[in-house]
Amino acid sequence: MTNLAEHAAALVAPGKGILAADESIGTMSARLTAAGVEASEENRRAYREMLVTTPDLAAGIGGVILCEETLKQRVSGGATFPEALAERGIGAGIKVDAGTRPLAGAPGETITEGLDGLGPRLAEYAGLGATFAKWRAVLRIGPGTPSPIAVRANAQALARYASACQEAGLVPIVEPEVLIDGEHSLALCQSVTTLVLLAVMTELEEYGVRADAAVLKPNMVTPGKDSGERAEPDQVAGATLAALGALPDALAGVAFLSGGQPPEQATANLAAMQALPHAWPLTFSFGRALVDPALRAWHGDPACWSDGQRALARRVALNVAAVSGDYQPELELSPA
Ligand code: G3H
Repeated sequence: MTNLAEHAAALVAPGKGILAADESIGTMSARLTAAGVEASEENRRAYREMLVTTPDLAAGIGGVILCEETLKQRVSGGATFPEALAERGIGAGIKVDAGTRPLAGAPGETITEGLDGLGPRLAEYAGLGATFAKWRAVLRIGPGTPSPIAVRANAQALARYASACQEAGLVPIVEPEVLIDGEHSLALCQSVTTLVLLAVMTELEEYGVRADAAVLKPNMVTPGKDSGERAEPDQVAGATLAALGALPDALAGVAFLSGGQPPEQATANLAAMQALPHAWPLTFSFGRALVDPALRAWHGDPACWSDGQRALARRVALNVAAVSGDYQPELELSPA
């Protein structure tokens, strides 16, 4: 178990974050199509190879989350993705949930599935070189939602997953995402996020999940994207840190999702949090806020391979500056 705590600490080591490149086949295909790239298995592989072979990626990235398809694919030299990452000193993670389905008894809400057969799958993924895992629960703020049963059912599923991961020797990333979609205020997002995190922490404790061998991946507390309310980074930082109040000091770290915020906004909010008192590393586990510029720059053209890598390296460097207390908005003006 000590090793597991060490692995967790390495993922969120000072000046490092996590790259979430674990879009499901369906989501990745849609993003490739939107970028004008044919949504083939080979293009999904090539895109992920472009990301993980970015020069010096390990300077700012402690782990990359993959989906099952990528975990089993190979980079051009013949190494599997986990091997290619390990050669670079980066941990390989695996998204192990099976996505969301309607939750019976809670109209309009979802439960994340994938617990059936999870133990043997975790053993298989560990055998393929994964050192950590991810499970995403989704809660939506709306009239009457999230309901108590949706919060409880998703918190329990996260805890069962996290416990199974630790038994299998994998560090669990525990991701309860309160969606940014909606017209809610910053204050309501803070209340809901606080409640959700409290439920998740209670279940983790009940299931005996070791906090020092787990990483929490929450949303930042922001106003809903259709609220018309604007929150400055210091307001987002204050509301987010207040919502994290229930976390145990022993937790290995907090690595935020970007949730559809523009990359610059996610980075500025992350930077503002560092100035406030906190007991755990506060870092990034961004998907879109790291990779969107890289996908646009590459757009499936082999001649633009290094443009894509430069775009990723730039966002990684800006987020490293954010977590290191060196970020200034003017840095966004510097060329890639
Ligand atoms: O599950 C979601 C990803 O891990 C994070 O993605 O930063 O685009 O919200 P995002």
